[in-house]
Amino acid sequence: MAKIAPSILSADFSRLGSQVKAVSKAGADYIHIDVMDGHFVPNISFGAPVMKCLNDLDTPPYDVHLMISEPGKYFEDFVTDKTGFITFHQEAETHMNSTIQRIKAAGIGAGVAINPATPIWTLDEVMEDVDLILVMSVNPGFGGQKLIPSTLKKVRKLIEIREKNGFDWQIEIDGGVNRDTLPSVIDSGVDILVAGSAVFNAKYPAEEIQYFKELL
Ligand code: DX5
Ligand code: ZN
Repeated sequence: MAKIAPSILSADFSRLGSQVKAVSKAGADYIHIDVMDGHFVPNISFGAPVMKCLNDLDTPPYDVHLMISEPGKYFEDFVTDKTGFITFHQEAETHMNSTIQRIKAAGIGAGVAINPATPIWTLDEVMEDVDLILVMSVNPGFGGQKLIPSTLKKVRKLIEIREKNGFDWQIEIDGGVNRDTLPSVIDSGVDILVAGSAVFNAKYPAEEIQYFKELL
């Protein structure tokens, strides 16, 4: 069964705690933390202090998605007892191997993300080391965009590669997942799906999580 990671990027920040509590209680498997620096992507979101505000709440692990330049310089700020994965972008890191090893040495699952136009082969040399591969299904930077269908082919390709080689990383898809696209996303065989606007722009985010969980 695929897991769901609601992205707080689309949450109402004036009520962040209560919204996160609600989706956690409704069965969210991770809380997806979208960090944007206005440099790697053309938008600025928030940093580690906002994520750490949630530390005392009863939530599932954080799934941190760093859309920032020089992730090796900043990822340590996101290491907490509740951090499950830290994912950085292949396009933003010239020292992928070293950053993966450092994240793992901190006791955190290491993920690498690829943009829609980035081919899978760019990850060939780190496939043995990663815990998660995040396939961007929109161009990163903003919530509420449309899923790019060709990215689902990448998910299927990754599943093939994983089977053939006996790798054990999880595959995550991020962007444009909503009630309309959910069937094709589930059908791709992905392990974790991120949903931001579909969950937090709904009247009752907790109900939206329940709806997703039922279909998964
Ligand atoms: C996009 C972010 C996504 C985004 C998902 O840059 O990485 O996590 O918030 O939002 P929706 O689900 O609205 O596409
Ligand atoms: Zn994300």
